[in-house]
Amino acid sequence: MKQFPTDFLWGGAVAANQVEGAWQEGGKGVSTSDVQPHGIFGEVNQRHDNTFSLKDKAIDFYHRYPEDIALMSEMGFGILRISIAWTRIFPKGDELTPCEAGLAYYDKLFDELEKHGIQAMVTLSHYEMPWHLVTEYGGWVNREVITCFERYAKVVFKRYGEKVKWWLTFNEINMSLHAPLTGVGLQAGCTESHVYQAIHHQLVASALAVRACHLLIPNAKIGNMLLGGLVYPLTCKPNDVFETLQENRKWLFFGDVQCRGTYPGYMLRYFRDKKIDVVITDEDKQTLKHTVDFISFSYYMTGCVTADKTLNKQIRGNILDMVPNPHLRASEWGWQIDPVGLRTLLNVLWDRYQKPLFIVENGLGAKDQPDAQGEISDDYRIDYLNDHLVQVREALQDGVEVLGYTSWGPIDLISASKAEISKRYGFIYVDRHDDGSGTLARSRKKSFYWYQEVIRTHGASL
Ligand code: BG6
Repeated sequence: MKQFPTDFLWGGAVAANQVEGAWQEGGKGVSTSDVQPHGIFGEVNQRHDNTFSLKDKAIDFYHRYPEDIALMSEMGFGILRISIAWTRIFPKGDELTPCEAGLAYYDKLFDELEKHGIQAMVTLSHYEMPWHLVTEYGGWVNREVITCFERYAKVVFKRYGEKVKWWLTFNEINMSLHAPLTGVGLQAGCTESHVYQAIHHQLVASALAVRACHLLIPNAKIGNMLLGGLVYPLTCKPNDVFETLQENRKWLFFGDVQCRGTYPGYMLRYFRDKKIDVVITDEDKQTLKHTVDFISFSYYMTGCVTADKTLNKQIRGNILDMVPNPHLRASEWGWQIDPVGLRTLLNVLWDRYQKPLFIVENGLGAKDQPDAQGEISDDYRIDYLNDHLVQVREALQDGVEVLGYTSWGPIDLISASKAEISKRYGFIYVDRHDDGSGTLARSRKKSFYWYQEVIRTHGASL
């Protein structure tokens, strides 16, 4: 098989807080992303002092989306993954009535996509809950936040049910373990019990959204979204292998609950051993049975695990603080490049759950330098994406059901981890820089034409 199936969905993925800007327009409220001008691991700054944040204007997708969607259409996109900013619909999060200006904005955006024959995939919550729910409720550790989220989900399902047939609940839900404020609205000083209680509430909210979506839009599909944090044992020592199993379970746990509808035994043991107290009611147990239709995930890198405590402390790197793999090279940001890992991950998820998979993020963050003519020859990006897609094709041959592929940041955007734009992922270049300078003009990189050809040939050009 040289080609991908003809109904395979090709496209790209973005998130509201990384592209829209317009952070105080259209009645929008303040989100956790707005108070983290230096990214998801950065300090909280309540923005009373006019601190600069690149995200405030981002790439101005809020106003420029028609031009951007036209360029994506030119590449042949069949699908665009966006997220709705919860704070555009419920500015504080706990209102009973939604903000009409926010709802109207996404109506226009979906209409524009439809005009170009591009399907929308929508993440309900991508790293930006209302800040008010953090300050007044204490984040997801408070059960009332579930009600606020369910209300928000129902409002958007009812409003956009005719226009959107692909939904995702929480972006990289397992990231709450690494960035609790971004994931579950918990501030410094929270304990592991708080984190897992908040995660439990979010898992219940995710299942309630699945139930509501099935009732309100029976012909739609709703999935979860995992950060595919696959790790390998650093050696074949049995202790390294077992430690690796446990490390992979840290993120697979979320998939287990969202796909199987119940807490796995290994997690209950972890809670017992660590004296972690999580309140799980009988009603919650019933709710969790509303499992997702498909699994979506991001994939950027793999890492290694060692049971050797000293070694563990000495050699840690990248966003998930994994032990580097001596056999792989890394991107400029220290993310190790492992195309075969994507095939392995697809097979692992398929073997475990037997549910269709959707790769909703993958890509290379790199510095791009326009030449004298203003052209960007991003062969490094083409190589990265090409090598990964070849492995997706292998996984399809392995019998894995893969619905589609949306590359991360088809247009340059503000990075999540450090809020930089110099870390570029796009096929489309945006003239904006980390200091906020630039015209915001869009232009096509070499990879734009490469991806266009991949889509046109259903992958035969890879
Ligand atoms: C994922 C997120 O973690 O990775 C995105 O869902 C993020 O929001 C992407 O942008 C890449 O990370 P970064 O830090 O390079 O933007």
